[in-house]
Amino acid sequence: MNKHVVPVLVQGARMPTPHELPEDLIPLARRQAVSLSHKGFAYDVEKLAAQLRQLIQPAPRQRSTPEVLSAKAEALKQLRLELLNFKDSPLYAHRVAMGYLPALGDGNPDAQIIFIGEAPGKTEVEQGLTFIGASGEVLDEMLRSINLDRRDVFLTNVLHDRPPDNRDPLPAELAAYQPFMDRLLEIIQPSVIATLGRFAMSYILRKYDLPEKRESISKLHGKLLRAHAPYGEIYILPLYHPAFVLYNATQKSVLLKDFQKLKLFV
Ligand code: URA
Repeated sequence: MNKHVVPVLVQGARMPTPHELPEDLIPLARRQAVSLSHKGFAYDVEKLAAQLRQLIQPAPRQRSTPEVLSAKAEALKQLRLELLNFKDSPLYAHRVAMGYLPALGDGNPDAQIIFIGEAPGKTEVEQGLTFIGASGEVLDEMLRSINLDRRDVFLTNVLHDRPPDNRDPLPAELAAYQPFMDRLLEIIQPSVIATLGRFAMSYILRKYDLPEKRESISKLHGKLLRAHAPYGEIYILPLYHPAFVLYNATQKSVLLKDFQKLKLFV
């Protein structure tokens, strides 16, 4: 990981002249220095925060070429077909018995941000689409708050079929669908994985073997974590599930605030 130095001059401290600094700090001097004074403390801190924000701003991703875009679209099409024929899934019999459709995910196959939820709901499996019910409406509202639209991002779930009675995913089900998630991430190559709810969070933190993998969502929500994907450095942002905030205004404002972290990548 790159290291950055921001010289901070506290309460009128003088910036050393370049020849007073260690050689490796000379290029960092003066221009980037931020002074913190008593008088303008709030203003100065905001200046420092802006400077830090700029430093952690990820480099904008290169636009994919038309060839790459069409390879992504083709790979997704193939994956959807495999999911449709995934007879070994522990949820296949239930899918067929109920006349449900699998929902692999929807959105931009070249998205910077992928959102991962738990499993498609009833509305979703009736149409084979992701996040189109009540939770999807919350998600749309959150996306609008950061000037995004669902067509700018990719939406998926750790399970692509709906478990009976909307129960929690079982370990065997998570394992069965894991190859689909691995391939989705390989195709889309997002810079940010935003997990929705505790199942997706724990799944992704374990997948990337992050030290925070045993922490609770109440501790990690809204924190940007770094991880190494096979295609480069990425960020993981744990978020509460939209369904959790549906009828709770306080939780909704927490989710809105956490979403602001994604502005770094917009
Ligand atoms: N809840 C989810 O986790 N995913 C959906 O697609 C819909 C509701």
